[in-house]
Amino acid sequence: MKKTKTIITTPIYYPNAKLHIGHAYTTTLADVLSRFRKLENKQVFFMTGSDEHGQKLSDKAKENNQEVYDYVTDIVKNFKLLWEKLDIEYDVFIRTTDQTHKDNVQKIFQMLFDKNLIYKDYYEGFYCKSDESYFTKTQLEEGNCPICKREVSLFKEESYFLRVKDFKEWITKLLKEEDILFPQFRVNELLGSFIENDLEDLAISRKDFKWGIEIPNDENFVIYVWFDALLNYLSSFAYSSAPFGIESWNEETTEVVQFLGKEIIRFHALYWPIILKNLNYKMPKLLAHGWLIVDGEKMSKSLGNVIDPLEVIEKWGSDTLRFYLLKTVSFGSDGKFSEETLLRDYNGILVNKISNLVNRVFSMNAKYFNSKIPEATITLEETKNTNKNLILIEKKIIDVMENYDFNNYIDLVIKYSEELNGYIDLTTPWKETNEEKLKEIIWFLINKIYSLFVLIKPIMPKASFQVFEALNVQKHSFDNLFIDLKNIEIPKELILFERRK
Ligand code: MSP
Repeated sequence: MKKTKTIITTPIYYPNAKLHIGHAYTTTLADVLSRFRKLENKQVFFMTGSDEHGQKLSDKAKENNQEVYDYVTDIVKNFKLLWEKLDIEYDVFIRTTDQTHKDNVQKIFQMLFDKNLIYKDYYEGFYCKSDESYFTKTQLEEGNCPICKREVSLFKEESYFLRVKDFKEWITKLLKEEDILFPQFRVNELLGSFIENDLEDLAISRKDFKWGIEIPNDENFVIYVWFDALLNYLSSFAYSSAPFGIESWNEETTEVVQFLGKEIIRFHALYWPIILKNLNYKMPKLLAHGWLIVDGEKMSKSLGNVIDPLEVIEKWGSDTLRFYLLKTVSFGSDGKFSEETLLRDYNGILVNKISNLVNRVFSMNAKYFNSKIPEATITLEETKNTNKNLILIEKKIIDVMENYDFNNYIDLVIKYSEELNGYIDLTTPWKETNEEKLKEIIWFLINKIYSLFVLIKPIMPKASFQVFEALNVQKHSFDNLFIDLKNIEIPKELILFERRK
């Protein structure tokens, strides 16, 4: 069935430090999909935010001699600044300390408690503060946290639990048969590591500290930060900037897409579906990407290999960073970030294939037609063939993004620019003496440059904006990639990306 609405989420990030390019990668993916769906004339709800409770943040604020809320508020400002600089167009930025969210979490906790999906008992196990995660003894690696390898602490306390064990069969079937988690190999990893070995009910309360949402009618407890955080995806619908209400989640024509990094698959593909099922919400599509690796390691403050996206944007511009992140990481696998490959792709693709194409065509239009786009129709064999190839690529782009194939999308966009460059080489307009033919070539090129920049807009909104300004077109959609621009004056040149050393 054709989808008419799309809900897109990113994980909500911990405000314990500035965000790095790994976080920028997740959010860029989400933004690219959001802009893409809008160009398909779909109604999109794109949410992101900050995950502000939990022991780690409470300890961090103490170290800084600050109230936790003040401490996180400063960092959240930086998140918002980054999203602005990276051209992230979200509808809702949710903070888990917002009253709307707190009320929603308490309401849902109570509902699930009343349904006996949540119960009270004793918990004994290991806790990793850094990942805010519980582990059983067998899950530890050499006695340490299996995710970050840091020390864990043993504790026993009264706790509330979410029933998970009871859903073992259901979740196994769901993951195997319903295609909710992509890439597929992550399904086997999850089934292998957590479900078949030791699926335990999840402790969802904490007693020893206060920085969290109180459990209704039991003020000695706060709700475990992950249970609180996952529910942000539902709370966001109550915000005034939400473009549509929660009832749309279950509509058959609504697509729900959730982006996450591979280390938080267990929460999203195991516990979250159980919560959703019990609240009668349909299953989302979970897209789990790999990590960005710098100097051979996952970025971390202690290794000193953290790359600040704001610095990269300052130096290279947001379009370049967005383009590079999508191009360099093969979705689902880890990808290496380095300034050498960034420079290589910048000069090799953005300058040579894309910016030069635009500038060459604009200058030829100035030279041969006094900057006024000529009027023509398709008659030449070369134009017919190129047009056919380009229309094929346009269709493929729409197809591959039905399956969230970001790498193919970007490759096809590059191929589109190569086709156009090839067309110039083939038709050699600088040698053309027939006025009508020359008109056709330049008219065709300008019109297809327009199409190229509609296709590229989700990835590089700024460059597209510059091209649309130059061509004086305001409205864009994938339904209308060829708009027959003619008889209008456009600039003599347009340099989108300048060569760098
Ligand atoms: N607060 C939780 C998520 C709760 S969602 C209900 C959390 N926050 S986090 O700040 O640690 O961010 C995690 C997300 O950041 C990862 O899932 C991933 O999307 C992104 N990344 C963090 N480090 C990364 C890399 N080195 N590379 C790519 N993405 C990475 O977990």
